[in-house]
Amino acid sequence: LVLIIDFGGQYNQLIARRVREQNVYCEVVPYHTPIEKIKEKNPKGIIFTGGPASVYGENAPACDREIFELGIPILGICYGGQLMAQMFGGKVNRASSREYGRVELHIQDREGIFHDIPDHSKCWMSHTDFIEVAPQGFEITAFTDNCPVAAMKNSEKKLYAVQFHPEVEHSEKGKEMIRNFLYEVCKCSGDWNMHDFVEKTIQEIKEKVGDKKVLCALSGGVDSSVAAVLVHRAVGDQLTCIFVDHGLLRKDEGDQVEKTFKEKFHMNLVRVNVADRFLGKLKGVIDPEAKRKIIGEEFIRVFEEESDKLGKMDFLVQGTVYPDVIESGTDTAAVIKSHHNVGGLPEDMEFALIEPLRQLFKDEVRKVGEELGIPEEIVWRQPFPGPGLAIRVLGEITEEKLHIVRESDAILREEIRKGGLHREIWQYFTALPNIRSVGVMGDERTYSHTVAIRAVTSSDGMTADWARIPYEVLERISNRIVNEVDNVNRIVYDITSKPPSTIEWE
Ligand code: XMP
Repeated sequence: LVLIIDFGGQYNQLIARRVREQNVYCEVVPYHTPIEKIKEKNPKGIIFTGGPASVYGENAPACDREIFELGIPILGICYGGQLMAQMFGGKVNRASSREYGRVELHIQDREGIFHDIPDHSKCWMSHTDFIEVAPQGFEITAFTDNCPVAAMKNSEKKLYAVQFHPEVEHSEKGKEMIRNFLYEVCKCSGDWNMHDFVEKTIQEIKEKVGDKKVLCALSGGVDSSVAAVLVHRAVGDQLTCIFVDHGLLRKDEGDQVEKTFKEKFHMNLVRVNVADRFLGKLKGVIDPEAKRKIIGEEFIRVFEEESDKLGKMDFLVQGTVYPDVIESGTDTAAVIKSHHNVGGLPEDMEFALIEPLRQLFKDEVRKVGEELGIPEEIVWRQPFPGPGLAIRVLGEITEEKLHIVRESDAILREEIRKGGLHREIWQYFTALPNIRSVGVMGDERTYSHTVAIRAVTSSDGMTADWARIPYEVLERISNRIVNEVDNVNRIVYDITSKPPSTIEWE
């Protein structure tokens, strides 16, 4: 076990993820965790994270001095490193300006975290304070143009500190440095894997739930599916899943979800078919935000009605993953679209939450899904918005328009898969821009719908670029859609990135 002591930095879970990537088990605990607790856990190593405070600030988060006497190796990153410097009598100062970005790092050490790392590489800086003078007993191991002490160590006490962020991708050798800390310094054995995560989580859920009842809103998306199967492994039939089919799903999706969870996993699944109810509520509505709101509210209402029928439930499973935690935690970010997750928690319902994936990143969730034997179509499913096809049919939603998006989207997905592009492209779908234009089919003039293809590459959906789909694949998609889907005579390809566009059309 490696313990990550959290001082509030923005990359903290990324550190955890880097440790897991090296097959080492880790836990993130707050900086005020009592020293006794830390000792009890008997970690092989400790990492201090970065944080927004200044070590000289009032109420600056600090740790118990005793931690340095335990003989456990410690790596301090950014604030964590400054804290170490200050507590040992070094000098931390405020830089005249904030240093942010990629900087050339010069290393003058070969031992510990810098084992086998080249003398010069790029590292990622994000700080205002910096270590000006290393404390006595510490040796400066790296510097940059602006930082006299970009890294320092006290090998005897096994204490290491870095001013930069080895955990972010822009630090070229960052992964290796973390690996060195884990293997060279802490002597971790590196035999932890996702299978262990699954087993441990199942055990924890079992203990938490006991013989109580658990409810889950299943959307068929990666996160809620993995969370549900994990909980099902732990508590079996004590879990009931509610799957609200609002009629805005993709082709055959509802049946697939039902089949997978009922037949493959033998789970208690209540499928509620309420397409008419949703379409009724959406009749005449054209504003995208209004659509989202109606769908979100109606979803919660259906969910409540169904859960009432089941009697008292004690726990609610949510497929919250780490990026959701960050997003909902920022109150400075402007709301571009009010993302509404189907599966969102009804605020006034009384449940204790089970969020087994809260610490994981998307690709880690996929690994857990694979470990649990969840079929590829679900584990590798592209992101699909809670309001579903409602935000891909621009303007008023009608059965006919839904039919066009659903069918054209199915063709697109099939061809993307045949072209072997389905894991490369982050998200791909068709949208119906609500335009009709003139065409000619056979000898007849047509006046039919235009279908837009949207396909983007991205790593987190926050920014995206349009995918360079080969012309031959685009050609097949275009031909098939106009030939196979009634009332479509034109296909366009959306070649805007995000920003300035968004991924969805509404
Ligand atoms: P945009 O369109 O904002 O989409 O660039 C970014 C990612 O979020 C998805 N998305 C949503 N997901 N409820 C959701 O659960 C929503 O209302 C919603 N709107 C967009 C979108 O599919 C993309 O993956």
